[in-house]
Amino acid sequence: MNNYDHLLKPLKIKSMDLSNRVVMPPITTMLANQDNSVSEANLAYIRRVAGSGAGLIITEVAAVHPDGIEGPGMLGIYDDRFISGLSRLATEIHNKEQKAMVQIYHVGRESLFQLQRGKAVAPSALPGVFKIVPREMSQEDIREVIRCFGQAAVRVRLAGFDGLELHAAHGYLLMQFLSGLTNHRLDEYGGNFTERSRFILEVIREVRQQVGQDFPISIRISAEEYAKGGYTIDDMLGIVHLLVEAGIDMIHTSFGTQDSPGGIVCPSIEYQPGFNAQLAAKIKSVVDIPVIAVGRYTNLSAAEKTLSRGDVDLVAIGRQHLADPNFFKNALEDKEEATVECLACNQGCIDRLYSGKGIRCAINPVTGQELDYPERAAGKLRKVLVVGAGPAGLTAAFQAARLGHEVVLVENSANTGGQVTLAARVPFKDVYGQWIKKLTESVVRAGVDIKLGQTADINFIKQQAVDVVIIATGARNMKPAIPGVNHPHVKEAWQVLQGKAELTEHTLIIGGGLVGMETADYLRANGVADVMVVEAQSRSPVKKSNGHGYMLHRRLNEAGYQLCLETRVVKIEADRVIVEKAGQEKLLSPVKLVIIAAGSSSCDALAHALEQENISCHLIGDALRPRGILEAVEEGAHAAWSIL
Ligand SMILES: Cc1cc2nc3c(=O)[nH]c(=O)nc-3n(C[C@H](O)[C@H](O)[C@H](O)COP(=O)(O)O)c2cc1C
Repeated sequence: MNNYDHLLKPLKIKSMDLSNRVVMPPITTMLANQDNSVSEANLAYIRRVAGSGAGLIITEVAAVHPDGIEGPGMLGIYDDRFISGLSRLATEIHNKEQKAMVQIYHVGRESLFQLQRGKAVAPSALPGVFKIVPREMSQEDIREVIRCFGQAAVRVRLAGFDGLELHAAHGYLLMQFLSGLTNHRLDEYGGNFTERSRFILEVIREVRQQVGQDFPISIRISAEEYAKGGYTIDDMLGIVHLLVEAGIDMIHTSFGTQDSPGGIVCPSIEYQPGFNAQLAAKIKSVVDIPVIAVGRYTNLSAAEKTLSRGDVDLVAIGRQHLADPNFFKNALEDKEEATVECLACNQGCIDRLYSGKGIRCAINPVTGQELDYPERAAGKLRKVLVVGAGPAGLTAAFQAARLGHEVVLVENSANTGGQVTLAARVPFKDVYGQWIKKLTESVVRAGVDIKLGQTADINFIKQQAVDVVIIATGARNMKPAIPGVNHPHVKEAWQVLQGKAELTEHTLIIGGGLVGMETADYLRANGVADVMVVEAQSRSPVKKSNGHGYMLHRRLNEAGYQLCLETRVVKIEADRVIVEKAGQEKLLSPVKLVIIAAGSSSCDALAHALEQENISCHLIGDALRPRGILEAVEEGAHAAWSIL
């Protein structure tokens, strides 16, 4: 039986009594109404995740000023009209017997929405990630925003929350004043690091004055800026006592900005749980108020370890709430292994937000879809056949069986998981394999009849006499029409990841997308030193703005692997390859192994055959169009939920 003594210790912060040391940090959902008020979707989401057992839920960020909001779908607290909705949000959390804080902020220059409207303000007229110049704030603007923070704080209190958090991290307005990269002011709000903290200190004092002495105020800081020329932890250590003197009761230690390499704010799978604990411990060493650590925690064991070392007083666990909010209860019931661990893939959460869409989770189709999630079948109970046991098929089978349908799942290979089992073989991604294992176990527990090694053709389907057919037959590697592609030393990336190719030096990979880059990383991890990746596009399809993408590029670069962009393979010969770049042909020799990672195409023949026979079916996941896990899982769930 695991011991969570440190984690389960209550904590009193001013008027707020926490039952344990686990915090759900703010996670913006973009589920709010278009007018920035709390929506039914916000309430349904918080109702579900707040039941995790975390002692403190800090709800997503709310803007104190109409020009300080990132865009529609985000929460506002800049007007009294928001109080009633926020009050319902607080009630949902209190109904779960947990304490609730709201995070409040001003976005400053980090909003494309405000920049395009000409409304974005910042300490200095310098462009940020969106390359558009904001307006420099006048002293009157500064006084107005400070006033707005105070008014918003009053609204937090009126709405019935137990405390509030100031968002001075991640490159938003408060941090923009702190950073020398964004604050070039010549007045008293600029200057050295301490002088640049003036705006934050004035905001804290105003908020404290408005809410009274006993109301807990937390501040979220980025302890390190993680940007070239940005501030460091040592700078931060020099001012934290000022934050406390101004009225702060708790410090929530995050890191980085939107500009930080590799999207470190939402760290990728490469980061170990608690990687930030030492940074937070440094903050704790100079203050006497509670400090929170955050970053890649997915279970209570790791959180307990951090607390037992005395590094910090509380641990925030974010994206795990999206993947499986049962992690807390599972741990207390000594069945932590039942928890489905967050993949830190960011596909459903932060990446969707960046494209202006509401929150989801790649592996948990309930997240962000609480209002659509059915407890029971929409119509009659049916006999359902699912073909293909990759993520789409497994999800469809599980969801259909959960709703009471009788489900048969057939898969022509010997195991479930499809391409994810290959992804699980690349460095850092073994947790993908664990997810498939747990999903498969849920499918079995739900009573699905799984038939592995069974090919489903049209006759097989007819024999099953089912009411509903779901086709999730995935995709296959595409073989480009390059002369010499059938040489025996030419292998598909999937064969390599399956261990079906002999690894060797002098390897060339055709295709620099995620599969090609991850296959290269697999070779690197297996000690292959000489690898070239050839990509026809002018920019790498694996973006460095994505944390995993950034780390992949970095590892391969450090390993001395070459990524040749705008380059096409013209011909493959026995031990050499001819490539072409900008009209110039070049001979590469020797090349002992050629790996094809040039994309995939849908395996949809069965769906077309059914169509010919007028048998309707749901075509989902890669079988519909090759994409990611998020789409596969979402379409699997929706196919099951829509069965009438
Ligand atoms: C979808 C999403 C939205 C987020 N929104 C906020 C936010 O509103 N305010 C904030 O301070 N941090 C926000 N974060 C950062 C998280 O609070 C947290 O620091 C981060 O996810 C790392 O913790 P984790 O590894 O436990 O997920 C967000 C993260 C994600 C994934």
